[in-house]
Amino acid sequence: MKKFLIINGPNLNMLGQREPEVYGKDSLDDIAKETQEKLKGKAELEWYQSNIEGDIVSRIQKAFTEKFDALVINPGGYAHTSVAIHDALKILKIPVIEVHLSQVYKREEFRHTLLTAKAAAAIISGLGKDVYHIAILSQIN
Ligand code: DQA
Repeated sequence: MKKFLIINGPNLNMLGQREPEVYGKDSLDDIAKETQEKLKGKAELEWYQSNIEGDIVSRIQKAFTEKFDALVINPGGYAHTSVAIHDALKILKIPVIEVHLSQVYKREEFRHTLLTAKAAAAIISGLGKDVYHIAILSQIN
């Protein structure tokens, strides 16, 4: 069975409470459980969330020596600013899929620059919580 690391950046621990009209009503935990349920027998998922840029960099670096088949990352606001997360992603040899619950190009202009996405094989944005499931499906078929 394929193994995936799913990294979530700042404020994604507040899903369900945070701007539900933009990000939906489910918590990150709800999304993790639902996604794992849908992929039962097909994929093993490890979820990680941090509000701290350096901790996310360290988790990505750790993945370099682990046995994941792909990394799915929602960098949250760091997608728009973080050279450090971009550079850490570039170290990995496995595919990186960047996901965003919201359609970032329909939103404020500062969300239109995706620094981290330059290190990703693909981006999925705007399909709500399903972005995680779809990103993983794209790597197991
Ligand atoms: C987000 C989009 C980002 O612009 C924002 O800062 C987030 C969430 C998304 O999933 O739509 O925190 O990554």
